[in-house]
Amino acid sequence: MARFRTLDDIGDRFDDLRGKVALVRVDLNLPMQDGAVTDDTRVRASAPTILELADAGAKVLLLAHFGRPKGERHSTMSTSMVLDAVEDVLGREVMFVPEIAGEIVAQAVGILGPGDIALLENTRFWKGEEKNDPDLVKAIAANGDLYVNDAFSAAHRAHASTEGLAHVLPAYAGRSMQAELEALGKALDNPEKPVAAVVGGAKVSSKLDVLQHLVGKVDHLIIGGGMANTFLAARGVDVGKSLCEHDLAATAEAIMDAADTSGCTVHLPYDVVVAKEFAANPPSLRTCNVHEVAEDEMILDVGPQAVEALGDVLKTCRTLVWNGPMGAFETQPFDAATVALAKTAAALTREGSLISVAGGGDTVAALNHAGVASDFSYISTAGGAFLEWMEGKELPGVKALEAR
Ligand code: 3PG
Repeated sequence: MARFRTLDDIGDRFDDLRGKVALVRVDLNLPMQDGAVTDDTRVRASAPTILELADAGAKVLLLAHFGRPKGERHSTMSTSMVLDAVEDVLGREVMFVPEIAGEIVAQAVGILGPGDIALLENTRFWKGEEKNDPDLVKAIAANGDLYVNDAFSAAHRAHASTEGLAHVLPAYAGRSMQAELEALGKALDNPEKPVAAVVGGAKVSSKLDVLQHLVGKVDHLIIGGGMANTFLAARGVDVGKSLCEHDLAATAEAIMDAADTSGCTVHLPYDVVVAKEFAANPPSLRTCNVHEVAEDEMILDVGPQAVEALGDVLKTCRTLVWNGPMGAFETQPFDAATVALAKTAAALTREGSLISVAGGGDTVAALNHAGVASDFSYISTAGGAFLEWMEGKELPGVKALEAR
């Protein structure tokens, strides 16, 4: 992995941060319900960076997007909505500034003392943000002395606040960005082998690039969730009325062929949990061999025998990358395979025989549901960025931080 500058490199450029303005890009795209933040993980992830800079005497200006307002102001998408959550996590008072550039921000900087923190408005209220407009980049940079990017989860966007600023100010990876890059580097760029990947979720179509990339990288590819049905169907299995992208049969076959060529073993379930209706604990629930799915049944989870065999595969591996649930885990009892395999991975990690890295939307929810998230070696805060990383793509926000 390329070397990137971190907070440890700031001293090369600045003798003292006291009174310097640090523009810090964080990810405050937090889930909310009824006006309250329901998960502050991303704030907690960036707290060490913010506090380290503030404690070194910098005036910290937080830049973040919230939702997708597409260049317009929407009161419901103001970053002021998450101000309380930020203050709660940091345990400090944070000033809210309803702009990201210009005179109002300059005035705020004048009011802030060394070590004070301010949260700027949603960067996406300005059209130039998503266009990575050089004029907006310049205007934001005019109020700062250095730029710190601590938002790995937004690093797949080449926006003014995630990419552009790194080219016009001395730029550094924050502690959370640094931890993400180090953990992900260990998992796929330079892993201890053998490596297993678990890829689940509903649709093959949403993870085609991930699967194509992984077969060339890992020793074992474990496919679960609805997307396994497309692979089973491509192998001639009748999956009844299961979720299945029949039009992707040829693509699934091509992925399996590529896996063969590169020596990657693809694991598909050979027993499955099926039901005639998708509901919690339905009366028609049963477990059967994949070749015994009736035409009015749907596959909703991987079966217990397959889960046991997959656990044995993990026991032979040193590294695991996990994205996506194995079944319809939000509805009982179709969470069983995800929970059981996650518990095996967690136990192997605790014993020190496995490095386990997980990320991407549903995955973290599934691992939390299994009660094992804290046992994994590393849980990424990223959704889309984690997927793009699994696709082998270079993330523009990361690329821009590389030491030149
Ligand atoms: C996320 O929530 O995954 C990141 O904040 C990126 O958000 P976006 O998909 O709206 O760019």
